Amino acid sequence: MSRVALVTGGTRGIGEAISIALKKQGRTVVASYAGNTEAAEAFHKANGIEVIKFDAGHYEECAAAMADIAARLGPVEILVNNAGITRDAVISKQSREMWDAVIDTNLGSCFNLCKLAFEGMKAKKFGRIVNIGSINGQAGQYGQVNYAAAKSGIHGFTKALSQEGARYSITVNAIAPGYVDTEMVRAVPPDVLEKIIAKIPRGRLGTAEDIARGVVFLTADDADFVTGSTLSINGGQHMY
Ligand code: CAA
Repeated sequence: MSRVALVTGGTRGIGEAISIALKKQGRTVVASYAGNTEAAEAFHKANGIEVIKFDAGHYEECAAAMADIAARLGPVEILVNNAGITRDAVISKQSREMWDAVIDTNLGSCFNLCKLAFEGMKAKKFGRIVNIGSINGQAGQYGQVNYAAAKSGIHGFTKALSQEGARYSITVNAIAPGYVDTEMVRAVPPDVLEKIIAKIPRGRLGTAEDIARGVVFLTADDADFVTGSTLSINGGQHMY
């Protein structure tokens, strides 16, 4: 039976490419989305991948979605925590709401879904978890104290949980993408983005597929000895 994979934020941007790559790898993929139903329906129509709507930052909604997936398809064995948002502003202009939204969606979601998936993975003695961090969690970024803290938190979370999973063949890894050509990055002011691209040795933004390739590697059935690691995919912009 093909393994069930859940990709949060899996209908757009980096998540869309991850969902498609995991399907190609033979996984039964479920892609979650939080709000953009139109994009999710278009994604489903184009790729034949099941979509499910829930807020990954909300524990009860995650619990209901995980129970629904388990009842219909079986427990989630591959979990990709990709859902993420930005609310960029310098700290003097950043509200408590902007902080909370980013911490809950980007980092709280990892806790919610890992906790909910973990017992099932332990019972199966198999699990593959990939948390999508960021170069900005490794290096920091002007105007992103919320996002950098959440993404940096993901890297610590990954190292801690990998130690809990190891004895059950549950691997927990992170990917730290650099600047990838998605709507999120295109929202950066053009003059700022131009300066960022100038600092990428590879000379271009990443593609969503560049990141998806890493997820396929880390979630392979035989990737059993890679755990607690962070794979930086950033065109050489930051060596960590
Ligand atoms: N370092 C030092 N100073 C900086 C700076 C930097 N990196 N960026 C801007 N400044 C300075 C400006 O030069 C300006 O100085 P002056 O007033 O002396 O001219 C001052 O800070 C204010 O700059 P802004 O006018 O840009 O301030 P703002 O309040 O309008 O906007 C901002 C601030 C929202 C942070 C804006 O600069 C911005 O959007 N920056 C991009 C942030 C970014 O890279 N986000 C990544 C999003 S994509 C992502 O997160 C995905 C991923 O994982 C990689």
